[in-house]
Amino acid sequence: MNAYRISRGATLAGLERIAAPRRALAAGEVRVAMRAVALNQRDLQVAAGRMGATAEPIVPASDGVGVVVETGAGVQRWRVGDRVIAAFFPEWLDGLPEPGTTARGLGGGRDGVLAEEVVLREAAWFRGPAHLGDAEAATLATAGVVAWNALFEAGGAKAGDTVVLLGSGGVSVFALQLAHAAGLRTIVTTSSSAKRERLCALGADVVIDTQAEPEWQDVVLNATAGRGADFALDVGGEGTLARSLAAVRMGGAVAVVGGLGDGFPSTFDGAALMGGAKRLLGVLVGSRAMAERLVRFLEDRALRPVVDRVFPFAQARAAYEYLASGRHLGKVVVEVASADPVRRVA
Ligand SMILES: NC(=O)c1ccc[n+]([C@@H]2O[C@H](COP(=O)([O-])OP(=O)(O)OC[C@H]3O[C@@H](n4cnc5c(N)ncnc54)[C@H](OP(=O)(O)O)[C@@H]3O)[C@@H](O)[C@H]2O)c1
Repeated sequence: MNAYRISRGATLAGLERIAAPRRALAAGEVRVAMRAVALNQRDLQVAAGRMGATAEPIVPASDGVGVVVETGAGVQRWRVGDRVIAAFFPEWLDGLPEPGTTARGLGGGRDGVLAEEVVLREAAWFRGPAHLGDAEAATLATAGVVAWNALFEAGGAKAGDTVVLLGSGGVSVFALQLAHAAGLRTIVTTSSSAKRERLCALGADVVIDTQAEPEWQDVVLNATAGRGADFALDVGGEGTLARSLAAVRMGGAVAVVGGLGDGFPSTFDGAALMGGAKRLLGVLVGSRAMAERLVRFLEDRALRPVVDRVFPFAQARAAYEYLASGRHLGKVVVEVASADPVRRVA
């Protein structure tokens, strides 16, 4: 079977397609023929050497959907033909995160899913939503789950709240769709005026062009009658975290999700945090149980994640380059198999 491989820090030039051996299943394992894989900013960070625990070459990428083609001895959870999604942390099934269950995410310090076949323990997979196509279903495990967790599990957002979302990448667009469907008011920033209309069509109540309004936190205050938003989901880190904190109301919360703007600030204004009785929440993807709650929410609302562009398996590097360009809105996906994967790998 074919797979991609990359070494930490090898850059995209080091992303190579190889013929990987097919190993026999151990008891409790499941072999899945992958159909689609969604890329994340983290995959660029692994390639650049800013993330990932090992210098050994690994199969990259964390997010993928496929069909079960073989089950090991004793497998109860799945049958051949089931469509399943790999959980970002295969060992974090439910409850609070623990060092032991969150040490190694797929495509970071261990093999990921950019391959024609993936073998993981049966517990590491969750059911793909019936109403979604493969490219859409591939986007859930990281961007979908972290947006869900930040908003509703860690963040406790509820209908009527106002939430600030930054940019038009995979996490923020997923959060926009979820927040809009849950009855939240959404204020979205973007550095690209060309994306305004599409963000509005997805339910953004207010769109702020950060090129025209670099002090965008003031625009949030104006749009909330001076009070501030209830919640902000910060993916910018350095350069945005202080603004996100200023944009939320007294007692409001900021979910610290990403560091797109050159990592994270090394200092923050503790006095503003305390004086505003505000909360900073670190959010790390989520558990398989959170993924399953997200699946139910998407099915209940017939919600479809936004897939910007799909690349064929042979052009995975072009998919990475497109993600790196920042021209996308929503998710960038690699299609692994368009034919019936059960027959393809038999
Ligand atoms: N904590 C977790 O568990 C977790 C999980 C997933 C992702 N993350 C992190 O979350 C961040 C977003 O990931 P993603 O996959 O959604 O990325 P992405 O799809 O590549 O998002 C890129 C978009 O974000 C906006 N952006 C770029 N730089 C920015 C900045 N400095 N400040 C504000 N917005 C900026 C731009 O939107 P416009 O063109 O509209 O301006 C850009 O198109 C990354 O740092 C990633 O590592 C964390």
